[in-house]
Amino acid sequence: MGMNIYRVDSYDAMSEMAAGIICRQMKEKPDSVLGLATGSTPVGMYRRIVELYGNGEVDFSKAVTFNLDEYRGLGREDEQSYYRFMHEKLFSHINIKEENTHIPDGTAEDGDEQCRRYEEQIRRAGGIDLQVLGIGHNGHIGFNEPADYYPVRTHCVDLSESTIEANRRFFTDINEVPKQAYTTGIGTIMRAKRILLLACGEDKADILARALTGEVTPRVPASILQFHPDVTVVADAGAAKYLCI
Ligand code: GLP
Repeated sequence: MGMNIYRVDSYDAMSEMAAGIICRQMKEKPDSVLGLATGSTPVGMYRRIVELYGNGEVDFSKAVTFNLDEYRGLGREDEQSYYRFMHEKLFSHINIKEENTHIPDGTAEDGDEQCRRYEEQIRRAGGIDLQVLGIGHNGHIGFNEPADYYPVRTHCVDLSESTIEANRRFFTDINEVPKQAYTTGIGTIMRAKRILLLACGEDKADILARALTGEVTPRVPASILQFHPDVTVVADAGAAKYLCI
């Protein structure tokens, strides 16, 4: 309980450990509600989960998932949508039921209504058992950007310049990078029973140290995880560089 930080040698080791944590969760509670993340960090974890599934080591038939976020304006079939990401990296390779997977709809006509409904769906599912997180260079989790306060619930957010810049690598032109997104809130994330935070690469070393050992402030959204009762951090050597562990 509290915060457990694991420093592992490589990206593959981080992915292996993270996949193991997810699979153990599924064995202990086959109808687990998983909170899932996108970004490049968890790609290896998803690959490993698919392998473990292929070996018959994990069953997702009763799993329920809620993704953290989705770009506003991107449809399901858009190459860069998180809907597509999740199906390509995980959902289409495992036995999860499509109706048990949830991702905010980037094209929702009534954004506020969708955000309200998303929170309600999470609540009805019994809350999130295990929430996977990556961390943005500015300390964002989901798409909760640095701000003067912690957004509590699922909401629509204006992405910061640094996030737009970081995400441009996935788009041909910076003007194609969505400027807004739907994201679950800091309250939604903090209500998860367990949190698994993944970080890889030296470019995350500074923000990871600030988030885990610095001041708890909405200017570094991930810092609030210091107040969560059950966080597991798995960082590769690069990302763990400034952590004294
Ligand atoms: C993205 C996602 C986050 C992710 C973060 C880091 O914009 N919304 O959920 O954790 O930024 O991404 P990456 O893992 O590619 O560094």
